[in-house]
Amino acid sequence: MIYVTRRERFSAAHRLFRDEWTDDKNLEIFDKCSYPNWHGHNYVMYVTVKGDLNPETGFVVNIKRLSKIIKEKIIVKLDHRNLNIDVDFLKGKMASTENLAIGIWEELEPTITALGIHLHCVKIEETENNFVEYFGN
Ligand code: NI
Repeated sequence: MIYVTRRERFSAAHRLFRDEWTDDKNLEIFDKCSYPNWHGHNYVMYVTVKGDLNPETGFVVNIKRLSKIIKEKIIVKLDHRNLNIDVDFLKGKMASTENLAIGIWEELEPTITALGIHLHCVKIEETENNFVEYFGN
């Protein structure tokens, strides 16, 4: 089993807050991510797939094809968007990096499985110091 990772980047706005909480409590829990007038992050995403080598190509997956799938299924929905408002797979969820990773997994998994390989990990860096990894459960 060989693992292959594609990196993609997107920039998006979001706000973490709960309506029923006071501004002070939102600030305490969500810090700068609770600021009322939105803010953005330059997210970095790593999509790792795994599978056996195709003996004809020596590849697990054609990385150009994987990149095209990620762009069409994910990047067009996220890049320069508002995660709280614009993204169908985040509707009704907190726009956290954790929910982003889970949502991206669910969006990608069927298409990647249809290629005869497996999705292994979706990793999202919100900042250079904070990142989330989701392995499907
Ligand atoms: Ni934030």
